[in-house]
Amino acid sequence: MRRVTPVLGAEIEGVDLGAVDDDDLRMIHGALIKHGVVFFRNQDISMESQVALGAWFGELVVHPNDPGVEGHPEVMIIHADELSKRVAGETWHSDVSCDPEPPMGSILRIHTLPETGGDTLFASMYAAYDALSPVVQTFLKGPTAIHDGAPYYRSVNARIGRDDGGRDYPRAEHPVIRTHPESGREGLFVNEMFTTEIVGLEKAESDALLRFLFEHIRRPEFQLRFRWGRNSIAFWDNRCVQHQAIWDYWPQTRSGYRVTIRGDRPV
Ligand code: SIN
Repeated sequence: MRRVTPVLGAEIEGVDLGAVDDDDLRMIHGALIKHGVVFFRNQDISMESQVALGAWFGELVVHPNDPGVEGHPEVMIIHADELSKRVAGETWHSDVSCDPEPPMGSILRIHTLPETGGDTLFASMYAAYDALSPVVQTFLKGPTAIHDGAPYYRSVNARIGRDDGGRDYPRAEHPVIRTHPESGREGLFVNEMFTTEIVGLEKAESDALLRFLFEHIRRPEFQLRFRWGRNSIAFWDNRCVQHQAIWDYWPQTRSGYRVTIRGDRPV
C-alpha cells in the first residue's frame, strides 16, 4: 500500500476487485478508515462485481436526483461528453449530505477517459478540522447546519433541461463537526454543494462563517489530486472526505459507474 499524502489517501496494489475474499475486504475497510480514500488501478470489473463490492460494506442507495442504470437504479452513471452541459460533482461536496443518513462511502470506476484531465480532488475533513484554532474548534462543536438538496439538484435539472416533476429533495440538520463512527476522529462536516445555513446564527453571521469554512476546506495541504487511469477505482469515505470533479476535458468523453453505500446519522 502506498500512501498518497501525509493526511489523505492510499493506493492499494495486488488486489483484483472482481475476486475479493473477506480478508481483502477487511483490509480495504481498514485502509479506508485510516486513509479516507483508497485507489486501485486496472480493475476491469463488471457492474455486478462493483455492486457486490459495495454491498459488502452496506446497503446500496439510490441517488435522489439521478435515475441510475436501467434495471440497476443503485448504479449511478458518471458521464460527460461534447454534448454535456455539466458534470457530476463539480463543487466541493460530500455525497448527498442532505440526506438524514448520508452515505458512508462511494465507489467510482472510470472506464473511459479523456487523453488528459478529468482528475478528481479529494480533501481530508480531519485535516481541515485539525488546522482550526482550538477556540474556533470549540465554537464549531456547538451548532448544527442545514444541508438542503433542493437548491443544488434543482439548479442541475434547470441546467440540463430535466423536469423534476416538482418532487421533494432530502433536507437534514447535521452537526458542523462530526465524530466519525469508526475512527472516533472529529472532522468538519459542511460543504459548498448542500450546506445552506448554520442554525442559531444571524443570516449574515451564518453566511460569513460558511464562506470562511468553504474557503478553509480548499487549502491544498488538505488535498490530493487523483489522476485516473482506465479502470481505476476510487473508494472514498464521505464521513471525513470531500471531493470535487474537474471538468477540464470538454469536448472529450469521460465515463464510469458509481455505487453509493448507506451511512448513519451524523453525531
Ligand atoms: C462524484 O461522484 O461526485 C463525481 C466524481 C468524479 O467524477 O470524479
